[in-house]
Amino acid sequence: MDFVKDLFVLLHLVGMAAIVGGWIAVARAPKVIPPILWGARAQVLTGLILVGLLEATDETVNNAKIGVKLVVALAVAACAEIGNARQKRDEANPMLVNAAGGLALLNTAIAVLW
Ligand code: HEM
Repeated sequence: MDFVKDLFVLLHLVGMAAIVGGWIAVARAPKVIPPILWGARAQVLTGLILVGLLEATDETVNNAKIGVKLVVALAVAACAEIGNARQKRDEANPMLVNAAGGLALLNTAIAVLW
């Protein structure tokens, strides 16, 4: 079970890197690129799976921290999805891309510092 949990932590870190790295890569001309969109989707999924794995192995879960992270992650995903949909209609919105990247960075800080 430890290996499975570690595997999902790895996927969770790759998802974080995809969003933050993707955001940095497009910093000069912000737009939603696939790593940002798929990274945002992956974070919600891998995060929830991690909570399930921690509960299943009776490890303590900080519910307040997880609750805040879930709300922030849903906001990241919403910004990425709406930004992507608007881009398809030629209505690029750099603010949504910066919000997705900035909030993902905030969630990384919450994960490490809380
Ligand atoms: C943009 C969204 C997210 C980012 C950037 C993010 C980032 C991170 C990072 C960097 C870690 C590793 C921290 C460490 O090992 O010290 C982590 C761990 C964790 N995250 Fe997230 N996270 C996000 C969303 C979520 C969501 C939505 C959930 C659950 C609802 C979640 C649940 C967890 C859990 C349970 C761990 C701890 C795993 C362990 O015990 O080692 N995360 N997150």
